[in-house]
This record gives sequence, structure tokens and C-alpha cells, in this order.
Amino acid sequence: MDILGQQTEPASPIQVFFSYAHEDENLKIELEKHLSFLEQQGYIAGWNDRDIQAGQEWQEEIDSHLNAAQIILLLISSDFMASKYCSSIEMTKAMERHQAGEARVIPIILRPTDWQGAPFSKLQALPTNAKPITRWTDRDEAFLDVEQGIRKVVQKFRTQHDHLAFSKLPRLSELPDLKEDWGEAPDPGQFYGREKELNDLKQWIVDEHCRMVAVVGIGGIGKSSLVATLAKPLRESFEYVFGRSLQNTPSLQSILQDCIPFISDQRQIRLPEDVDEQLDLLIQYLRDYRCLIVLDNFESILQAGSHNSQYREGYKEYGKLLQHVGQSRHQSCLLLTSREKPKEVADLEGVVGPVRSMPLAGLSPVEGQEILNSKGLFGADNTVAELVHR
Ligand SMILES: Nc1ncnc2c1ncn2[C@@H]1O[C@H](COP(=O)(O)OP(=O)(O)O)[C@@H](O)[C@H]1O
Ligand SMILES: [Mg+2]
Repeated sequence: MDILGQQTEPASPIQVFFSYAHEDENLKIELEKHLSFLEQQGYIAGWNDRDIQAGQEWQEEIDSHLNAAQIILLLISSDFMASKYCSSIEMTKAMERHQAGEARVIPIILRPTDWQGAPFSKLQALPTNAKPITRWTDRDEAFLDVEQGIRKVVQKFRTQHDHLAFSKLPRLSELPDLKEDWGEAPDPGQFYGREKELNDLKQWIVDEHCRMVAVVGIGGIGKSSLVATLAKPLRESFEYVFGRSLQNTPSLQSILQDCIPFISDQRQIRLPEDVDEQLDLLIQYLRDYRCLIVLDNFESILQAGSHNSQYREGYKEYGKLLQHVGQSRHQSCLLLTSREKPKEVADLEGVVGPVRSMPLAGLSPVEGQEILNSKGLFGADNTVAELVHR
């Protein structure tokens, strides 16, 4: 079985080259441990300069492996940047191969260091949002994030390979970049029914280019699952997909501090102090690129039960976000879920305009029954009725 759950012919493992400074040996060993499952599964084969057997002409050996690798990991730290061999010779070679489409270079940010302006600074780095591994409170989580990022690259590489049965491997540069950031969203799992809702939303967002869409309904009705399910077919239509839940009431600043570096390919890391300037910057990127931004649990930052959905103390700026995104011209979409319709959506929405909302009602009894059956529960008809009318 493939990582995608498909039966496939065994393909040869993807060669991975580690470029790192010896001062970072311990972190590199940790990273290798986290990648060892991918290796055991036969998806990757790793190589780095400590694998050189005694007596081999080391530089030649490094060159040949660097030249053969399909994925090159640059383990970034101040020592890496200071090491002439890593940061000039290996990196130059790696970037040449990346630009020629022969390999994919992935910077892995080990420790905080200034790498702005480096040749690799435009590439999508790992961990998510290029947060240095040593800055994570849980080191394992940081490595897991890196492992998952690499797995995605390997996955894309292999799917393309499967489609191209007898032709040669695609050039890696032709593969889409890793441009999806969901924070810690759980996997939506199996989803039933709601075909009309899924079709309508897809039409609004993809065909009619809505700028802002709110899915509104009571808790537990299926908003988050609907949006997570919708995001899969929408991926094709967007260059960047960024999703966050507002359940733990993050500030707008902290969302933008994740979002803007992500959709700018880490070109814009330091944001202006002023929120209006930050929002202008965001709109500029939403204009230049087609981005899908998903904000789940929007009600978390609204005052519970207030009639025209006032913002909670300290969260008024989200209202500005909705106003800017709903009113400015751009080619992106903000998709949000909420128990109450935010005031800005109500003010701006129209049946044919670029801002819309979809009220979500209960599932049909047939759909409800399907869910119960799938979970092995065969309830009496009135139990099902209760669930779907909740
Ligand atoms: N159409 C559906 N098919 C399968 N499971 C569903 C469906 N709609 C909702 N669920 C399940 O019901 C629960 C609540 O749904 P959720 O999307 O979290 O609701 P909301 O975001 O509106 O509070 C979740 O466990 C979800 O997996
Ligand atoms: Mg939800």
C-alpha cells in the first residue's frame, strides 16, 4: 500500500541529501530518527557526509551524492551560514539543481539565525512558518512537523510518478510547491451527504470568485467538517491555502503573523506595527496570488448571544479584516464558519455579490441514517429523527 492508500508498484526510494554543519550533528541525528519511518517504508534513502567510508575521497563522494539527490535538505543555523563549505559550495550546487528542476531543496530551520536574503530564502521552509526547531516548546512536535512536510513532498512526487507509469520521473520543479498551512486542524474523516452545499460553495468560490463566504449554523451541525471537506477539491483552484481555528481566541495580529509570511513565501516576515498597514499588506498579497483563507470557529471572538454580533473585548480588529477582505478588489477568498453571522458579512452580503453566507441546517434523515450505519449504530427511526433535527 502506498501512503495515499493505493496499491502501487514499488518505486525506488527518493534520495535525500542532508547538508549541515557538524556543530548541528545532534539535531541532524534527531531529524534522521524522525525520518526513519519514511526510510523503512522505502520512500526515501538518506545520505550525508558522515556516511563516507574511511579512505574515500570525501569531496568527490559528497559531490556525487549531492548530484544524485532528488531532495536536498539544508539544515539552517548560524553555524551552517558561517560554514563556507555548507553555505557556499553545497548550497550553490543545491540551488543550481533546484533551479534546473533536478532536485527539490527544502531549508530546515534548526536554530534562530538571520537567513533573509540567502539564496534559499524564497523557498518554502520547514517547520511550518519557518519557526526554528529549537524554539518549539516540544521538540518532537517540531520534528514531526518537518517529517510531515517532507512526507508531503514525497507523496506528491510519488503520485506524479504513478500517473506517469512508463515515462520518466517528472522534473521536481514542475510539481506544485507545499503551499498549504492548516495549523493543527484535525483530519475531517468520512463525510456524508451535503452535496448541494458543497456544490453551491464550490460554485460561489471557484466560478463566481466570491471574496468572502460565511457558513453559519448552530454548534455541532457540521460546519467545520463541511469546510474541511470542501477544502480538498478547492486546493486545485488556489495557489495558497491557509486555515486556522479561532477556538482559542488568537489575536488578529498572531493570525496575520502566520498568514502573511506564508502567502509571501517567507518574503514578508516582519510585519508593520500598525494593523491597518498589515491589512493593506494582506490585501496586496490576496490581489497578487489566489489564496484561500479559512477561519473556523469565528464565533469564538464574538460576544456570545449579542444581537448584532459585537466583537469580544480586544478583537474588534477582526471586523476590519472582514471589511477589508469583503470590500477590496482581489482574487482570493476568506471562508469562515461561525455560529452567528458576523455583522460585516450581513452588511456586505448580496445574492449575486462577492460576499455571501450559507445557513447550515440539519442533515436529511437519509444522510443521518447513513452516518449512524457507518458507525455501526442502527437506531430506531425516532432516534435518527432527533439527531437530524437537533
Ligand atoms: N455530513 C457529515 N458526515 C459525517 N460526519 C459529520 C457530518 N456533519 C457533521 N459530522 C460530524 O458531526 C460532528 C460535529 O460536526 P462539526 O463539523 O464539528 O460541527 P460544527 O463545526 O458545526 O460545530 C463531528 O464529529 C463531525 O465529524
Ligand atoms: Mg466547528
